[in-house]
Amino acid sequence: MKKYSYLLLIAAVFACKNKPSSDNAGKFAISETPYGKIDTSAITEYTISNPSGMKVSILNYGGTVTKLITKDKAGNDGDVILGFDTLSGNLQKGNPYFGVLVGRFANRIAKGKFTLEGKNYQLALNNGVNTLHGGLKGYDKVIWTVEKLAGDSSLQLTYKSKDGEEGYPGNVVATVVYSLSAANELKIDYKATTDKATPINLTSHCYFNLSAGADSTIVNHELFLKADKYTPVDTTLIPTGKIELVKGTPFDFTVPKLIGKELDMVKGGYDHNWVLNRTGKDLESIATLYHAASGRFMEVFTTEPGIQFYSGNFLDGTLTNTKGGKKYVLHGALCLETQHFPDSPNEPSFPNTILKPGETYTQTTLYKFSVK
Ligand code: BGC
Repeated sequence: MKKYSYLLLIAAVFACKNKPSSDNAGKFAISETPYGKIDTSAITEYTISNPSGMKVSILNYGGTVTKLITKDKAGNDGDVILGFDTLSGNLQKGNPYFGVLVGRFANRIAKGKFTLEGKNYQLALNNGVNTLHGGLKGYDKVIWTVEKLAGDSSLQLTYKSKDGEEGYPGNVVATVVYSLSAANELKIDYKATTDKATPINLTSHCYFNLSAGADSTIVNHELFLKADKYTPVDTTLIPTGKIELVKGTPFDFTVPKLIGKELDMVKGGYDHNWVLNRTGKDLESIATLYHAASGRFMEVFTTEPGIQFYSGNFLDGTLTNTKGGKKYVLHGALCLETQHFPDSPNEPSFPNTILKPGETYTQTTLYKFSVK
């Protein structure tokens, strides 16, 4: 009997060794696919896969997450984020930040102005009278340097942002590490340093639809946000500076609720920053998203004080080169952007977003996928 098990073991080892190298089932792996060129720079799509078959694909352009493949309750794979089939899709005017890394400052800065250490700064205006997501050419539209880290489960992306870029002071070095775990978690670790005081607020802008293409909108997704408060906004989506309770309003997601339930009661749809209930700066579970028909369940953990829940209010079916030519209609997906509060540089009562020389900005966010 003992001899028989020994023979079986040898046979198993032999079988593994002789597996084709392209078959990465049961291991972590990172593959690379050419995705086009911008001028003379090659754009590459890197795909990390984990032992259970979850996959995340990332471009060096904008640090863009292009695909996120997870299983539904029947064990079928599906891509749970919106995106494009080709680089020309990503480069089109009006790409609403699909999957990108957002910086130097996520969300809006009122009139693109702020004062820091006695000096007035004027940023590039790219959203009516305001600056949105870093300006005309934010971190989402630049080429990052990508390095595969040991273990074949992480990619490190680096971008050096010059003093004066988009009007911001200081040379900033930003590093983002995307990691996939065996437990189906996509973790994003952000770091930044500067040589002059500057506002920093980095986030990821994935558009989730957990139905993986089955539902054209996210109205049947159930959302939970661990937040008793939110920051109301003016007509240009700049926070008024007030912090209000969600209780008794459509902004209350403290008990899981279908997004469609009160969506019509919010003019323009949800596009607000929730103030997370938290005390320290540890990585904490703060949101969940559930799509009952597929069984897909996503849990969000972060170190950040806020989250922007955006219900895809500006999607109107006009984007081209979308995945499989799909029409991305109003509320076709949602973003859960972990962040510091919008317009913080102009709101002294909001948590600080100014990074100084000698300090290191850090933020960690983790999206964990399962089924129920
Ligand atoms: C903002 C929206 C904006 C969208 C860009 C979100 O983070 O809050 O107002 O339209 O990004 O597509």
